[in-house]
Amino acid sequence: MRKVPVQGLRPEERLPDPLYHRSGTRLYDRGERLTPEEVELLARHRISEVHVPASDEDLAGFLCEAQRRVVRLEDLDERTPLTSDVFDADGTLLLSQGVVVHQAMRDKLRERGITTLYIRRSSAERGLVEVQSFEADRAVIRRPRPKLVRWEAADDLRPEDRVADSAQVTEEAVQRQVESGRMEGSPEGEALARHLVERDPLSPRREDELRERNADLEETAGRVHQVYTALEAGETVDSDRVTDITKRLINAIVADHSLLLAQVSLKHPERYLLHHAFNTAVYASNIATTLGYSKRQVLEIAYGAFLQDVGMIQVPAEVLRKPGRLTPGERREVERHPVHGINYVQRVPLLPSSTPLVVYQHHERMDKGGYPRGRPGQLVHPFARISMVADVYDALTTDRPYRKALLPYQSMETLLRLVARKQLDARVVRAFLVCNSLFPVGSHVILSDDSVARVTRANPEVHTRPVVAILARSGRRLEAPELRDLGAGGDLQIVRATAPEGLEGAATDGF
Ligand SMILES: [Fe+2]
Repeated sequence: MRKVPVQGLRPEERLPDPLYHRSGTRLYDRGERLTPEEVELLARHRISEVHVPASDEDLAGFLCEAQRRVVRLEDLDERTPLTSDVFDADGTLLLSQGVVVHQAMRDKLRERGITTLYIRRSSAERGLVEVQSFEADRAVIRRPRPKLVRWEAADDLRPEDRVADSAQVTEEAVQRQVESGRMEGSPEGEALARHLVERDPLSPRREDELRERNADLEETAGRVHQVYTALEAGETVDSDRVTDITKRLINAIVADHSLLLAQVSLKHPERYLLHHAFNTAVYASNIATTLGYSKRQVLEIAYGAFLQDVGMIQVPAEVLRKPGRLTPGERREVERHPVHGINYVQRVPLLPSSTPLVVYQHHERMDKGGYPRGRPGQLVHPFARISMVADVYDALTTDRPYRKALLPYQSMETLLRLVARKQLDARVVRAFLVCNSLFPVGSHVILSDDSVARVTRANPEVHTRPVVAILARSGRRLEAPELRDLGAGGDLQIVRATAPEGLEGAATDGF
């Protein structure tokens, strides 16, 4: 066998011969290619050299040698008991562990012509642990990467879906539309949900995948920042810039919707408006995807959700930052923001025609208890009914000047209470439960064995039994999270929701 240092391997080239680990494990077949990442991975697992067979006989000898060590008969100590079983060349047990090899035994073996004995190497001696952990990590990096969504012309907003003339975006025009009762917005076309990349919920994501997703999110956040800054400055914003943000968001949902939900579960109370706009769009798009809307419709829903609170820019900062109760006058100021919002979206030419409605109606309630007009549910656009759920949830889960954030679980419970009071659309909240779980994705929970876990994926059937990553046990943080599907049966279950206390970390922790 030829020994080849791992550093001397040429990544990306087809291997002319198979490669073996010293334990006898075949690492690569002839014709396979190692990626540079895999070469690095070998080194990381302290596999510094590999073995290449020169012939079949050479390989057979190597495999025997890898598994067993030769001991000469005369070297067996007469005073100490054997520390392992001893075999002949064919693998037949000759002497058991613990036996003391007396002269008489030795003579007998010699009479049978046995002078070479063999001891099986232990897995530690063979380095089997290092090779197994290498193989497990290699399986993770070899998993196919989620593909990005392909956008076809049919998925884009059509001219008839857009507001042709921004001058027509007025409060009166929106009200006329509401009164006409034309509230189109049922799912149509191919559901975006069909394109979601199916992931194995119990396999951790690749490091580079997580890095890529985080970088994507940061890039999108930068673009959100630019659009909001322009709107705050009273500039006109090209509709394509908002479309670009919503497309990036939809790509993230298709690639890994659970991860995206976890990424936005870490809140930023500073620059609330900007983060709230993006988070609301994320939640609304996830709900819309679950409800079976098409790619183009999800884009439109995200668009409206993203802009619905833009009118807040006009509410005086001292009112928005006020820690105490608002006076009736201040409250009226805040409740004007859907109307101010209409003025802002006028500055986005060619925006989807549903967006002014969403902006205007996202604080209406199904029981006529909302504002600005106190319309009943049937006169609230379906997209606004989605957007309002997303809006309430994000507001509840974020620290505000007048109250601390609720835990995600408490916020979900609050949504259910608002459904019971007929304020929110039950179908919409149900869809949110399906995609985000009762113990929402990204939130922390205590399990029945007293471990602390983070929810990594909703269970669409049993909302209380999601997939979780156990992060700590008996008060100690685990070296690597353990993924568990609580819906797969077994006794382990969620006892209660908890704040991350001491386990705060990156948005991708547990993934
Ligand atoms: Fe609002």
